[in-house]
Amino acid sequence: MSSRDHVLLGVNVDHAATLRQARYRGRHASARAEPSPTAFAGEALTGGADGITVHLREDRRHIQDEDVRAIAALPGVRLNFEMACAPAVLAFARALRPAAACLVPESREEVTTEGGLDVAGQPGRVGDTVRALTEVGVEVSLFIDPDERQVEAAHASGAPVIELHTGAFAEAWGTPAADAELLRLRRACERAHALGLTVNAGHGINYENVGTVMTLPWLHELNIGHAIVSRALMTGARTAVSEMKALLRRR
Ligand code: PXP
Repeated sequence: MSSRDHVLLGVNVDHAATLRQARYRGRHASARAEPSPTAFAGEALTGGADGITVHLREDRRHIQDEDVRAIAALPGVRLNFEMACAPAVLAFARALRPAAACLVPESREEVTTEGGLDVAGQPGRVGDTVRALTEVGVEVSLFIDPDERQVEAAHASGAPVIELHTGAFAEAWGTPAADAELLRLRRACERAHALGLTVNAGHGINYENVGTVMTLPWLHELNIGHAIVSRALMTGARTAVSEMKALLRRR
C-alpha cells in the first residue's frame, strides 16, 4: 500500500468537452461555450481533485488544444496529459510540459472493451516517446492491460508509472467474471510494485465498483471521468468529486 491514508483522485474532464462538442462539433467553440471543461476542472479542484486529466485526441472529438492550455494554467493544477505515441501530439506535450503524461493506444475508441497500450509489441516506439517526455521533465505513465508481460515491458521502457486498465473489470462488474478480472489486476499491482513502478488505475470506475477497486494493493491514484461528469449533472462538479474522494479513503 502507499503510505497515504487515501488514494489520489485524478478527474478526467474529457466528457465535459464531449457534451460541449455535441453542439459545436466541427465548429469553433468559444471560451464561453458551455459546458466549459476548464470551469469543470476548476470546480473539481475545489471539490478536492488531486489532479486533472485530459486526452487530446487526434480527431479532437472532445478536448481541444485551447482547453488543454487553459486547464494547464489553472492555479495549483497537476495536469495529467493523455496522449498517443504520435509525433504531432508529442511536440504539443513537449512544449506544454505538463506534470504528467499518460500514453494510451492511438486508435482507442471510448468503449470499455478495448485494450491498453501494447508496450511489449512496440518497445522502440514507446521507449522513444517515454525518453522524449522524460527529458523535458514530464513524468510518464503507460496505460496497460493488467498483464505481466505488459507490466514488465512498461518497466523496461523506463516509465516510472503505469495506469492499469480497469475497463474489463468494470465491464464484468456484477457477473462472476469480475472476480477473475480483479485477480488479474491484483497480480499486476503486485508485479509492478515489485519492479518499483508506481501503480495507478482507471477506466470504467464508478461510485458502485470503486470500493472493490480500492481492495487492490499499492494503488497510488485512480483516474475517473465518466462517472464523475455524469453525477455532476445532478449534483454539480464539486459535490460529485468530493463524494468520490470520500470513497478513496483507506479504512
Ligand atoms: N484512464 C484512461 C487512460 C482513460 O483513457 C480514461 C478515459 O477513457 C480514463 C482513465 C477514465 O475513464 P472513465 O471515463 O471510464 O472513468
